[in-house]
Amino acid sequence: MEQQTRVNWPFLRRESPEIQRAEGVYLYTSGGKAILDAAGGAIVSNIGHGRARVAQRVAEATADCTYVVPPWTTPSRQALVEALEANWLPEGLRRIHITSGGSEAVEAAVKMAIQYHAARGEPGRRQIISRSVSYHGTTMATTSLSGHPARKRGLEHALCAEFIVPTPYPLRCPLGSHHPDAGRFYIENLRNAILSEGPENIAALLAEPITGSSGGALVPPDDYWVAVRDICDEFGLLLILDEVMTGFGRTGKPFAYQHWDIEPDILVSGKGLAGGYAPIGGVYASETVGSTIQKAGMNVMFHTFGAHPAACAAAAEVLNIMAEEQLVEQAARKGQRLKRLMHEAFDQHPHVAEVRGRGLLLAIEVVKNRETLETYPEQHAVSDRIVGKALGKGVFFYGGGTGDVRDIVCIGPAFIIEEPHLQTMTEILLEAVNEVTA
Ligand SMILES: Cc1ncc(COP(=O)(O)O)c(C=O)c1O
Repeated sequence: MEQQTRVNWPFLRRESPEIQRAEGVYLYTSGGKAILDAAGGAIVSNIGHGRARVAQRVAEATADCTYVVPPWTTPSRQALVEALEANWLPEGLRRIHITSGGSEAVEAAVKMAIQYHAARGEPGRRQIISRSVSYHGTTMATTSLSGHPARKRGLEHALCAEFIVPTPYPLRCPLGSHHPDAGRFYIENLRNAILSEGPENIAALLAEPITGSSGGALVPPDDYWVAVRDICDEFGLLLILDEVMTGFGRTGKPFAYQHWDIEPDILVSGKGLAGGYAPIGGVYASETVGSTIQKAGMNVMFHTFGAHPAACAAAAEVLNIMAEEQLVEQAARKGQRLKRLMHEAFDQHPHVAEVRGRGLLLAIEVVKNRETLETYPEQHAVSDRIVGKALGKGVFFYGGGTGDVRDIVCIGPAFIIEEPHLQTMTEILLEAVNEVTA
């Protein structure tokens, strides 16, 4: 019998734990059980749960400026801009637009790219290239742009036309697993797709620099991003990087694109911006993009709750804490340690194809056969069962994949995680994988 929970949200009923409170890297159920949050929720929590300092700032901002229309300035909006400029955004990406979440931010970035070209007198450039595997959000446009079949189910016939090229997936590169020419293969694929569509029709490439939970921390070959940046420049496309999952230190650099020598024209963030203390996202565009749109008299329309004062206060304080406690460096260091533990646990495992990722965004890909990379049938729901087993043992991991890509289990804890937690996470994940694949 399906368990009745008191809140059914979303409206499809499913069993879900009832969390009473959260502190540090632990969630506590109403029954008093502690759950080690190895995924920071949906890869969101970075400074850990329950910091009174952030709650205090949110309370002050709510009392001082409960709601003010998004384009006006308030002290907490000012504080957020100062924090972003002091420690996070490069000089070239300081046209800031604050939203209430990741999907809204990606959607705004896509609209800006189209407006930019229209403002320059090239309204024909209205296509956005995106990639499969990817996830960019839950609005109609961002669902269309996502290379994520499972999240399109029942919507396929109603979504916008898609223009999707393959995401680098070194393990499953058609040339062979981790083939030395894998980077070239995906770069040429993109170039050919642009040429066949006609660059004059394309506004931008939208991509995650390291693919999040949809692909399970897919890191492209090292020659990929510099070449892609060059291709965008060659054909006049803007490069929009979606760092909703990877931004603000998750991969051990402030932004994941900084693992390579590139800069986007528009950068998008979400989750880690306020580490779960508030719903907020951000779009950071270059001066050229911002001023071109502005000079043409076009609006970058806000959502009513965009740049909400309480959310800006939370984000500013979270960013300050991350800088003070050097949490990005910690994410890099602890990520290396966790990856080593995971390699020790899974490198010889008959049902784990590989351990991958950067910083504290790691994943395993579970397969029926490690040699052939054959997957389990989708209806076996292997990754869901692994996540369920581990939860029963007191550790929460985040299941990933797209339906076509499976069976992914992601790890993305808060950056304050300690050595014993890293060991527990690895041990419990191994036990759960063993039990489900036995
Ligand atoms: C890379 C990426 N882009 C966009 C989104 C959508 O963000 P949100 O769920 O805050 O709307 C997500 C959410 O998981 C994401 O991982």
